[in-house]
Amino acid sequence: MNPRTPGRLIGASLGPGDPALITRRAWAALGSGARWAYPVKKAEESSYALGIVRRGGLEVPADAEALVFPMTRDAAALAKAWARAATRSVELLREGRDLVFLVEGDASTFSTFGHLARVVRALAPEVEVETIPGVSSFAAAAAATGLTLAEEDETFAVIPAAYGVPVIDRLLDEFDTLVLLKVKPLLDEVLALLARRDLLATSCFIEKVGAPDERVVRDVAGLAGEKVNYLSLLLVQNPKRVRGELRRGCRKRAEPSIA
Ligand SMILES: C[S@@+](CC[C@H](N)C(=O)[O-])C[C@H]1O[C@@H](n2cnc3c(N)ncnc32)[C@H](O)[C@@H]1O
Repeated sequence: MNPRTPGRLIGASLGPGDPALITRRAWAALGSGARWAYPVKKAEESSYALGIVRRGGLEVPADAEALVFPMTRDAAALAKAWARAATRSVELLREGRDLVFLVEGDASTFSTFGHLARVVRALAPEVEVETIPGVSSFAAAAAATGLTLAEEDETFAVIPAAYGVPVIDRLLDEFDTLVLLKVKPLLDEVLALLARRDLLATSCFIEKVGAPDERVVRDVAGLAGEKVNYLSLLLVQNPKRVRGELRRGCRKRAEPSIA
């Protein structure tokens, strides 16, 4: 092998917790002999993504490498950690072996992988990147709760709750279903909004969907004051939304059959 050819960087989406939702393609990448890298918030801390593959019965290779992505708003600390993770990834890729980065949920949805891939490409433009799509937390949450995200002409939006109550309030008028990710720090404020808008009964809270300690809460008002897990979201349906006019004629008419 040409030692100058780096390995490929592969973002392997593992779904949000149930190993049965790992796609065949991600499973194949994990078993391909590629080196594994997985995200942790602190050195020596456990990795949620690694837990999913362990529950799936895969043995973690001895040379799997933890990359630290701290949960901090300190921009300097973040930039340093990102640079370190990307530099280490490039070092590993330049050994010529593929590097499979384990991603919780879907790799294209609010994932560390997108940013990591960008920084790696900036450092080493010759590195080929593959993204393996997967089941997102909110798709699994909708399935687990029996709620649909959208039917027919309905609309839905997925946002981090950090945009705040005024934005969420406005979006509730625009979308039939709202998915609020990263809801933990704003949960009480959002619950108060849902109470004001009489939407508590059509909302559902899901924590660690697919994991053995998954929790589904339909009586969301009861969550007020509770410290929930970071891996949690709210599905909010607004059956009272007033719709605008839809443009007609967008659907394809059935072709007349030729006898
Ligand atoms: C950084 S985003 C990652 C999203 C993920 N890549 C996906 O496809 O769903 C983290 C947020 O996604 C949601 N989330 C991720 N995994 C979850 C899970 N297993 N159960 C519930 N919510 C989850 C939570 O709102 C969490 O705060």
